[in-house]
Parts: sequence; structure tokens; C-alpha cells
Amino acid sequence: MDVTSLQSVAILGSTGSIGQSTLDVIARHPDRYRVHMLSANTSADALFRQCKQFQPRYAVMQNEAAAEQLVQKLRADNSDTQVLHGDNALCECVSANDVDVAVAAIVGAAGLSSTLAAASSGKRVILANKEALVMSGSLLMQKASESGALIMPTDSEHNAIFQCIADHSLNKKEAGIEKILLTGSGGPLRNCSPEALSVVTPQQALKHPNWSMGPKISIDSATLMNKGLEVIEACTLFSLELDDIEVLIHPESVIHSMVQYRDGSVLAQLGRPDMRTPIAHALAWPERIESGVEPLNFTEMAGLHFEAPDLKRFPCLRLAFEAQRTGGTAPTVLNAANEIAVDAFLNESVSFLQLAQLIEDTLSYAKISPAVDLTTIIEADRDARILAKTKLDKLLV
Ligand SMILES: NC(=O)c1ccc[n+]([C@@H]2O[C@H](COP(=O)([O-])OP(=O)(O)OC[C@H]3O[C@@H](n4cnc5c(N)ncnc54)[C@H](OP(=O)(O)O)[C@@H]3O)[C@@H](O)[C@H]2O)c1
Repeated sequence: MDVTSLQSVAILGSTGSIGQSTLDVIARHPDRYRVHMLSANTSADALFRQCKQFQPRYAVMQNEAAAEQLVQKLRADNSDTQVLHGDNALCECVSANDVDVAVAAIVGAAGLSSTLAAASSGKRVILANKEALVMSGSLLMQKASESGALIMPTDSEHNAIFQCIADHSLNKKEAGIEKILLTGSGGPLRNCSPEALSVVTPQQALKHPNWSMGPKISIDSATLMNKGLEVIEACTLFSLELDDIEVLIHPESVIHSMVQYRDGSVLAQLGRPDMRTPIAHALAWPERIESGVEPLNFTEMAGLHFEAPDLKRFPCLRLAFEAQRTGGTAPTVLNAANEIAVDAFLNESVSFLQLAQLIEDTLSYAKISPAVDLTTIIEADRDARILAKTKLDKLLV
């Protein structure tokens, strides 16, 4: 095999749920892809196992002590993989000329700089890290347009929308798009009463009915903040206004989103709730490759149901709408406060209902500025975290 004809892939966050699903797809196509770089935060054992199987040129750990552990393991195994650590190494590796495809699968704001580095260096960016887009929206799209990077929406809903639009060079009006119907399962607490929500445990909130995902996005799904972040993400990816998007709760997670056109047509993308489908699509588009996902069996389906989201029981969705309407650094503040609140809920420092309260308090006290450049965005993120921690301390006394 001529290895120079293979597409070289760098995976930011390879040990997570999206990272593992990506490697599962890539392993099915050794004739198309080779792994150039794998990365993790602290999971040295998991990264070692991935290095053994995929033999990347580089393995980058965020954490220095974990990087040292990985060095020892790879040395004992006579591996050629070079270990680096820290954000600068990650950004350099992902921007290198010999990388064709960058998979942005780090969770949270921690993925911002490396996702921006991938977008600034002309890669095909398999974009799962929604928080980076929520924070840096137009800046990320501008960097991609300047560098010629191809941003492939990989969140299942945005990948579905992408698949339902025939010509991506047209704007909404030219394409005849009336509305985006952004679907979501409603999460594990969809039917809980306000009383039941007040005593929900992290274990209950982590139990997503349809999808298997990392802890942060699982809690975001339970609060509906995930849908809120996705609305903001959709506005940026498809140049839409908030009013162009309708959120629809669809508990079966069979339809991953829809596009409604001027002539009355509604196009939907359907599939099993398995991220290997959007990942395979984003990797190969405009081609289609095998993903390992079984097709749907329509005769086994009991029915498809839809309902409007309840913004009273799930205020995080309302907060995301408000942040997007405010604009500037408001989505960055929303995201930062949410990351602090989710951590606090997972550590059992705040209750499920206090989680939204903490975000709302942070948003109402934060200074919002135009998101003109990366420095402004990073400062807004830092200040919002400090403010959210102060609010959290007040809740704890
Ligand atoms: N999971 C899904 O089905 C899904 C669907 C749509 C979109 N997304 C989005 O995709 C992203 C990843 O989600 P996930 O569920 O795959 O998360 P996850 O399972 O928690 O994995 C996160 C990955 O990021 C790494 N990481 C965490 N903190 C880091 C840091 N400070 N610096 C560098 N790397 C860091 C982790 O390394 P360690 O293993 O060392 O912690 C891991 O490799 C999120 O933005 C999420 O919203 C996920």
C-alpha cells in the first residue's frame, strides 16, 4: 500500500466517547486513513492501548505526569510513537502540514485552542467539540474560510441538517429554507415533575435513554443545555437566526433533525443513535463509507413522537436562547458557567435545579462585550468562571 495516498488523521480527545467511535470507523478503512496523532488529558493507559493498535507518530497528553507514564509504557513496548504534552504541542501537531483531517473531540472549552488551530491550518475538521464553536462562533468560521478548512458538522443534529441541504454554497433564502427542526430526545428526565427534578442524583441524570456519551454532554442532555448549545452551534454553522430554528423533542432519537423548505417539503435524516454514522459521513463526504452501524428496522419501530420542549422545567434551554439573542461574549459566558455548574452537580455540590440557577446568576452579572477576537473570548471565559465560582460559593454557605 502507498502510505502517502492515505489521509492522515489527528484526533483531539481520542480516549473519549467520540474519539473511540472515530477510531472504530477508521479501523474499518485502513486503505483510506492512517492515524498521525492521538491525544488525551490524563488517560495514559487508554492512550497507550490506542497507540499500540494505531501506531501514531505522536501521542499528546495534556497532563505532564500522565505524559511521563505514557513514555515509560511506550518505551517498554519498543514503540516509535513520540510523546508530547500541553496545549502548544497539541496545536502544533494538529496544524502540521502532514495532517489532512483533524477530529475535534475534546470536551468543553479545553478544546478551543486546538480546534481553532485545526480550522486555521486548512484541515478537514470533524467538529464534535460544540463548546469551541459556541465560544468562538464567527471567529472559527472566519479562520476556516481564510485557511480553506472544511468544517464538517459532526454533532448528530448538525450532521443531519448538513445532509438535508443539497447545495452548501447557497444562503438560506436562495436554498428556499424556511426553518430548521432541531430534534432532541429530551434526555433521561423528560417526564420528571418539578418535585422529582429537585432530588435528581448525578447517576439518574447520567443515564441517557438512547445515546452513550461522556459525562459532561450526558448532564447537558438531562438539563437540555445540550439542545441550547446546539441551537447556538446551528446558527453559526448554517448562518441562521435564532428564529429560524425550532427545537422539537423526539424521544425515540430516530430522526436526527430536519429542514423545512418553502415548497412544503421537509427533509429528515434518520438512523440509529450511534455517533459512528455522522463521524463516517463527516470523514468521507461527499463519499459514503461503511461505519459499522446497522440500518434502521422500520417494521420494529413502535412510532415516532414529537412534543415542544418545556422551558419552565428545563430553563437551561431558555438561557441558551437568551445568550444567543444577546450575542457577543454571552454564549461564552453561558458555556463557562455551564461547565462550572455541571462539575458542581457531578461532585454533588449543587442540586439539579441549582445548576440552572448558577448559570442564570452568572449570566445576569457578567460583563458582555463584542466577541471581536480570541483574547476577548478567553478573557470572557476566564471572568465568567471566576464569577460562577463566586456564585457557587454563595450557594454552598
Ligand atoms: N459523546 C457523544 O456522543 C457526542 C455527540 C455529539 C457531540 N459531542 C461533543 O464531543 C465532545 C467530546 O464529547 P465526549 O462525550 O466524547 O467526551 P468524553 O467522553 O468526556 O471525552 C473527552 C476527551 O477529551 C479529553 N480531554 C478532557 N479534558 C481535556 C483537557 N483539558 N485537555 C485535553 N484533552 C482533554 C479526554 O481525555 P481523558 O480521557 O484523558 O479524560 C477525552 O479524550 C464534546 O464537546 C461533546 O459535546 C459528543
